[in-house]
Amino acid sequence: MAVHTPRENLWDVLLGLAWVLFTTTGAKAAAVSATPAQTFTGIGGSGAWWPNDLWHFPETTRQNLSSLLFSPSGLGLSSYRYNVGAGGVNVSNPTRAPETFYVSPGVYNFSADPQGVYFLNEAAKRGVASITAFANSAPPRLTSGGASCNGQFVNGNGNAYGTFLSDVVAHFRSGGINISLISPMNEPDSTFGPSPCGQEGMQVMPSQRAEVVNGLWNALSARGLASTVGILADESSSLGNAGNEYSAWLPQVIDKVAALVHHTYDFPSDASYTSYVTNTNKQFPGKQTWMSEICCSLGNADGTGKGYTQGYDPTIKNALMFSSLVFQSLVLVNEPHYDFWTLVSNGLGCSPLNNPSCATNANSNGWNDGLIYYDGSYAGNGNFQLYIKKQFWTYKHFGNFVKPGSQRRAITGSDATKFMMGVTDSSNFYVIAMNPNTTDSTLTLTFPESVCATEAHRTSASEDFASIAAATQSGSSWSLPLKGTSLNTYIFARRSC
Ligand SMILES: *[C@@H]1O[C@H](CO)[C@@H](O)[C@H](O)[C@H]1NC(C)=O
Ligand SMILES: *[C@@H]1O[C@H](CO)[C@@H](O)[C@H](O)[C@H]1NC(C)=O
Ligand SMILES: *[C@@H]1O[C@H](CO)[C@@H](O)[C@H](O)[C@H]1NC(C)=O
Ligand SMILES: *[C@@H]1O[C@H](CO)[C@@H](O)[C@H](O)[C@H]1NC(C)=O
Ligand SMILES: *[C@@H]1O[C@H](CO)[C@@H](O)[C@H](O)[C@H]1NC(C)=O
Repeated sequence: MAVHTPRENLWDVLLGLAWVLFTTTGAKAAAVSATPAQTFTGIGGSGAWWPNDLWHFPETTRQNLSSLLFSPSGLGLSSYRYNVGAGGVNVSNPTRAPETFYVSPGVYNFSADPQGVYFLNEAAKRGVASITAFANSAPPRLTSGGASCNGQFVNGNGNAYGTFLSDVVAHFRSGGINISLISPMNEPDSTFGPSPCGQEGMQVMPSQRAEVVNGLWNALSARGLASTVGILADESSSLGNAGNEYSAWLPQVIDKVAALVHHTYDFPSDASYTSYVTNTNKQFPGKQTWMSEICCSLGNADGTGKGYTQGYDPTIKNALMFSSLVFQSLVLVNEPHYDFWTLVSNGLGCSPLNNPSCATNANSNGWNDGLIYYDGSYAGNGNFQLYIKKQFWTYKHFGNFVKPGSQRRAITGSDATKFMMGVTDSSNFYVIAMNPNTTDSTLTLTFPESVCATEAHRTSASEDFASIAAATQSGSSWSLPLKGTSLNTYIFARRSC
């Protein structure tokens, strides 16, 4: 600790006065960095398992849903994860039992899974830039139990499994659907047994993971796709598992993996997340890590109290809690890509036809695993309504303004918080800033170049991505009001006014 001279004490008093002025007016000062941080590659989520239900909805609803997910008028997602089904053998819940293309070695039924393929096509048609094919299990013929869950990857099947996945991806690519990433093992840490299972799953022991990657790489290479289709691994369910298990497989195949993707069902603290990313970067320099799945948490707007749990909360509190997780990945640890889990869910936990406030009130029976919800009893009661949760509107800020190729700019200064970031493309700065507190505040922001405020959007308890007044200029800085409990995007053109 430094010893203060009297002169420094005077300076402290002046700074203290300035601080009192700032805090009494509710203003906070911060600056957008002149230096780009990471370049973003995608914001999205997964096509499991809702396509199996939503495919049965009226065509107008399927089109509406596709626009809500993939068009700029909706979330504007730039990443979509198509689930390559394993046939759902021994999966008891039919919604979670996707059909498989696999018939026998080298023989495929590409008329299978019209449900998943419908929404895959809609994503591609609407220009989603990053499309991943991911699998929870290999087809039953290639697993230890001859089922789509409650079994393991079988040593020696790497090439056969890689051939299947590569043929599927080559098939779609030849039809104009630009699948550019494959993830062969989603949550390899579990079998998802016992049977009958709640979902597909295949355990891949850490010692088996290199074979899965090698088999896929060999098959992609044989089809001339190894440099255009990247392999993602290993989708461990927690950062703890991922980091602990890398040494057992990753050094053998590090050059064949495009990115290290993880889930965060351990809901890591800032310190654990930072330590995972720092250690991974140290061991595997130049390899990006990113979020490929998360859902299902309650907790507070500032991210405290988060953790894997049942419960449905459609309110701004939960929407900001999930936003705090996005900021944690993008701001705290510089990850370039973020995928939420199922996007669309039947986990309302109540019956909207019997209870008019079902979709808008929190309950403890449902699940926070979607952004858009539907009535799981649609087949019997004919209710084809879509229900939009507040989290849809907060995620729209990221989907609409964090586009592939855009870059993050840190926001620094004593009044910057971990829940704000700048994003630049060639024409604009987007300042995405959350106020998890109940009191209103104003962020006073300076930029490293001339900018001119053009528009702004806010999501709060009463507003859904509402247009609000653009930031206002005073001298060399800009004022960005941050209403209590809200997520805001202020847009600035890269030119003077
Ligand atoms: C292919 O899949 C479709 C859709 O599930 C099914 O109707 C058809 O019978 C399958 N064809 C073969 C040859 O298995
Ligand atoms: C396919 O996707 C990749 C990765 O997003 C992209 O680099 C490439 O330009 C795309 N190709 C086409 C033909 O759209
Ligand atoms: C699949 O279900 C059948 C019938 O219940 C059972 O005999 C078989 O053991 C199950 N397979 C696995 C891998 O659990
Ligand atoms: C799409 O669904 C949303 C949510 O139910 C609804 O508000 C909107 O009016 C629908 N749009 C169309 C064009 O049907
Ligand atoms: C919210 O409150 C925390 C703790 O007092 C404070 O550090 C932070 O600056 C506040 N955030 C905003 C946006 O006002």
